[in-house]
Amino acid sequence: MLTVLQHPLLSCDLTTIRNVSTSPTEFRIAIDRIALYLAVECYKLLPTNEIQVQTPLELTKGCKPIGRVHLLPILRAGISLVHSFLSLYPTATIGYLGLKRNEDSLQPSEYYANLPTISPDDIVIILDPMIATGGSICKALEHLSTITHHRTIIASVISAPEGIDAIHRRFGENEITIVTSALDRELNDHGYIMPGLGDAGDRIHGTL
Ligand code: PRP
Ligand code: URA
Repeated sequence: MLTVLQHPLLSCDLTTIRNVSTSPTEFRIAIDRIALYLAVECYKLLPTNEIQVQTPLELTKGCKPIGRVHLLPILRAGISLVHSFLSLYPTATIGYLGLKRNEDSLQPSEYYANLPTISPDDIVIILDPMIATGGSICKALEHLSTITHHRTIIASVISAPEGIDAIHRRFGENEITIVTSALDRELNDHGYIMPGLGDAGDRIHGTL
């Protein structure tokens, strides 16, 4: 399942992060808000239990989320989405996967992994602002494939059609849930998303 979010506030924040003149500080503020939208959308996919709640006036129906959530930011750029997700999922654990794409072969290699204990009822939300070739997300999904859990959700800010197709081809369209705030036109010859925003990790960390 692929969900592409649409909202005027989101469009304005996307414009900010795409703009080459945006400073790392402004970039972080805008991506923080975009992440909040992604987190709200992902919340729809969490199982909930119906519960009773006593208002000051009467008993009524309410709901409560069930199952544990694990956030899995892909280093480095995924770090930028953690803060907003934690504001909606304050009890979530955070695991880390360090993946670096080789800029010639476009193949990702894993340099760090530190995941919490994940149980069969748990939900894992992979956080990575960019899905370009899809190689990094496929690598993360391969890593998770040996760990039994209820559901994986992928939250991304900008995705390329080529990357989404690659993930669907590898893992099956119905098996994978992707929530993204933009589906851009295409990849260029260097594996960059067009129009995109450039190198997300560098823009977030001010390392351009
Ligand atoms: C970026 C981005 C994704 C990856 C996407 O990370 O954050 O993880 O590229 O590309 P793909 O879909 O073609 O795999 P990068 O490897 O540049 O590392 P960084 O976040 O440390 O800069
Ligand atoms: N990684 C990025 O940060 N940006 C792209 O456009 C592609 C991969």
